[in-house]
Amino acid sequence: MAAGAQAAGGDEVYLDGAFLPRKEARVSVEDRGFLLGDGVYEVSPAYRGRFFRLDRHMTRLRKGLEALKIDFDPSRLPEVHQELLERNGLSRGRPSVVYVQLTRGVAPRTHHFPEEPVSPTVYGYAKAHDRTPRSRWEEGWGAVTVPDQRWSRADVKTIALLPNVLAQEAARRAGVPDALMVRDGLALEGGHSNLFVVFGEALVTHPASNQILHGVTRECVLELARAEGLRVEERPIPLGELEDATELFFTGTTTEVRPTVELDGRSVGDGRVGPVTRTLYRRFLEQVDEECGGGGWEEWGSP
Ligand code: PDD
Repeated sequence: MAAGAQAAGGDEVYLDGAFLPRKEARVSVEDRGFLLGDGVYEVSPAYRGRFFRLDRHMTRLRKGLEALKIDFDPSRLPEVHQELLERNGLSRGRPSVVYVQLTRGVAPRTHHFPEEPVSPTVYGYAKAHDRTPRSRWEEGWGAVTVPDQRWSRADVKTIALLPNVLAQEAARRAGVPDALMVRDGLALEGGHSNLFVVFGEALVTHPASNQILHGVTRECVLELARAEGLRVEERPIPLGELEDATELFFTGTTTEVRPTVELDGRSVGDGRVGPVTRTLYRRFLEQVDEECGGGGWEEWGSP
């Protein structure tokens, strides 16, 4: 099956214990993911066929399953991740991600959990992506602020993403990649990324509370910033303070470290990618090289 699927474009997915061509994968209309958005997901990055901090993604998935009381043991999922890369010809070369989602399963629609126990539906796929060329990255991007309309458990990576969808559509219409979500006057995080702000000597990000997703990339960047000797503060950031920001960037699995030089049409700092963002992206890519045996700075950093 693997060889045939690869000949057809390497588009093999995982569904409930089996690998199969994407066009043959079927999910019931009674799946609670489809009907109610009742599930969780993860997006985990791989470089040169090796996952970067997959254990952290799996820990977050486990916590999400516990929060939603979905009874599933994810301990075999790392093997599924590796096999998805291999079956799709992604075990060398370009950066890629594996997406995995778990829903509560298939049952007649009720708001409460199904009367009879059901098995969760498990779906996964792998996909390559291209990192932004360095010349483009050096220019930075814009971002727009949007109201955060999410529920009070933004730390759970639920598939119910409507507020994020609306936020990111607002960004797309504004011609920028990131929507900065604001609640009660605080700048929390992006529609699919975490927020970091530089105020002179200090690097600031919202604390890992229930109001943001605890990004794996965020955690890595915090480690690297501390190792660099930067002053790191995990505290709420009032939107008004952003006028004094010298640098601003977003982090995430596919975003990596993305500099924002304009927010709502106004320059951030001097309107150019700053030294803290540049240093931290370099350190991040070097960390990728170290943990994955390449695919980070050694690939992107040389002119
Ligand atoms: N998004 N905040 C939100 C709301 C996110 O959706 C994500 C990730 C992050 C960054 O988390 P991490 O560094 O672990 O990727 C922060 C994924 C990539 C997505 O939805 O595709």
